[in-house]
Amino acid sequence: MSRLRACIIGTGSYLPARVLSNAELAARLDTSDEWIIERTGIRQRHIAADGEFTSDLGTAAALNALDSAGLAPADIDLIIVATATPDQTFPAVATVIQHKLGMTHGVAFDVGAVCSGFLYALSVADALLTSGAYRTALVIGAETFSRLLDWEDRTTCVLFGDGAGAVVLRAQASPGLSSDTGILATRLHSDGRYNDLLHVDGGPGSTGTTGKLRMKGREVFRHAVTNLAAVMTETLGAADLAPADVRWVIPHQANLRILEGTAKKLGLPIDRVVVTVDRHANTSAASVPLALDTAVRDGRIAPGDILLLEAMGGGFTWGAAAVRW
Ligand code: COA
Repeated sequence: MSRLRACIIGTGSYLPARVLSNAELAARLDTSDEWIIERTGIRQRHIAADGEFTSDLGTAAALNALDSAGLAPADIDLIIVATATPDQTFPAVATVIQHKLGMTHGVAFDVGAVCSGFLYALSVADALLTSGAYRTALVIGAETFSRLLDWEDRTTCVLFGDGAGAVVLRAQASPGLSSDTGILATRLHSDGRYNDLLHVDGGPGSTGTTGKLRMKGREVFRHAVTNLAAVMTETLGAADLAPADVRWVIPHQANLRILEGTAKKLGLPIDRVVVTVDRHANTSAASVPLALDTAVRDGRIAPGDILLLEAMGGGFTWGAAAVRW
């Protein structure tokens, strides 16, 4: 039965110029390049410049994605930004980006699901586009996590970086078959019992300060592999697909060992997983669209490929999306 599908017609990304190496961190903390690489796979991360905000990163990624889609801001009627590091408590970063793009039309709002934010934003955009309410959306993941870090805490500060990624989605009439191009299925989950394992110890409504990121890494790790493998399997099932159909897993980039563990659970070789954690570290909501844009631009992703996007983050929140390119 014919229906609308949300199709990714452009991707873009932006990384701040400043690169912070493991060696620089080891010079000021009790850590080492060897420990960070062995336990996480991370070799470097990008850090936003003074005066460079989440909205600046998101705007640059959005312009890059619009350029790849051959569209202009005038063609967009919906902007959804996934972020946990807004420039200000309010307004939403999405409206700041809307303004920076020169738009006075359309609707723009943020979603907050931390590292799963891009999957949440993509799912919301998919629902709004396939209902016919909007036609062309910018979905952006943008973060300046460097500003949430306790730079004295070696168990967290080595793990994160700054960046932004974006996709342009367009509602397109499709036959309504699993062979359709576009987003085939999305699945989201959350479980607030685990708030304490990964959170920020401040906020406008409690301490009146921004606070710093706190994480019990070992416990988060354990939940991540289990939850991600489950939601990936569930999402593939919803799209009538099996793990063997997946050409590329586009995962949230928290730790190379998590990527290896989840791929193994699904019986997929690691060479089908797009890995950027070595260069970008964990950029929270930006990591999935950054990895997607990397693999699109280096030519790995071909028309017809099945992509499985997945992420897990604070809350806990987690989700996945099956997409035919
Ligand atoms: N450099 C050197 N040693 C470090 C270190 C660092 N940067 N960070 C922690 N250590 C030490 C710990 O203090 C601990 O020492 P101890 O045994 O003397 O207490 C030891 O290394 C092992 O710590 P542990 O936490 O068990 O390490 P791990 O193998 O679990 O790796 C993480 C830690 C954080 C890399 C890993 O747990 C992880 O990636 N967790 C999930 C993170 C994640 O996915 N977060 C985001 C989800 S969105």
